[in-house]
Amino acid sequence: MVFTVNSKVIILETLTEISEWFAGYLTKELNSSPNYFHLAISGGSTPKFLFDYLSLHYQNKIEWEKIKLFWVDERCVPPEHQDSNYKMAFDHLISKVNFAQANIFRIQGELNPELEAINYSQRMKHNVPLFNNLPRFDLILLGLGEDGHVASIFPGNLNLFKADNFCSVTCHPVIKQRRITINGNVINNANSIIFLVTGSNKALIFDAVINKRNDFIKLPAASVNPANGNLIWLVDSNTANLLKHRP
Ligand code: 6PG
Repeated sequence: MVFTVNSKVIILETLTEISEWFAGYLTKELNSSPNYFHLAISGGSTPKFLFDYLSLHYQNKIEWEKIKLFWVDERCVPPEHQDSNYKMAFDHLISKVNFAQANIFRIQGELNPELEAINYSQRMKHNVPLFNNLPRFDLILLGLGEDGHVASIFPGNLNLFKADNFCSVTCHPVIKQRRITINGNVINNANSIIFLVTGSNKALIFDAVINKRNDFIKLPAASVNPANGNLIWLVDSNTANLLKHRP
């Protein structure tokens, strides 16, 4: 297991323990943040349990109105579409806790992708503090694809970790669905990054990234390394299963 000084792996048994850990982390960070807290979330299925847990147990315990909420990516579909990352967050969290509507900066997947990538970049530029001329999120919540993708940066898009612009339009390699994603330069500019990874189906890819196995360098997740921030892998025991049984 190879870690840099700014990264760590937290392995917990259940989704409830993971959700409680995250809630405690977010609460502590919000309490120590004098101003707005700039958070960018992922979509997919993994965050659903966490969002439901926060809605149920932390509706009145977290200062939701202090959060400026962004997404790391969005599918190029309308906000009411079942694939929409915004819809997932709205159904499981936003509709149930007290975010300020003005602080919700969804990626408008229903619009022209190239234009929205530019417009979303502008919204980040004007609503997220800049560091090294890049938006610096207080926290970015990432998932891990089974192919090692993060946000909608897929294998073969590693150039997006060296891009000058903040956002790009990509295409899911299997279902050919167009996506708008923030680029790796913005991801690695964050103050904190939490990878939320659960399930036995992520055990192989997690082990490959953490233990630098095989062609790990081609995996976008392996390029996530916040030069001026912290990286936390928050995983369950099913995802970490191979890690525990290997040196
Ligand atoms: C998306 C996400 C994506 C996700 C991973 C993991 O738009 O799908 O932003 O990066 O985090 O694909 O997805 P699951 O949580 O569904 O495994």
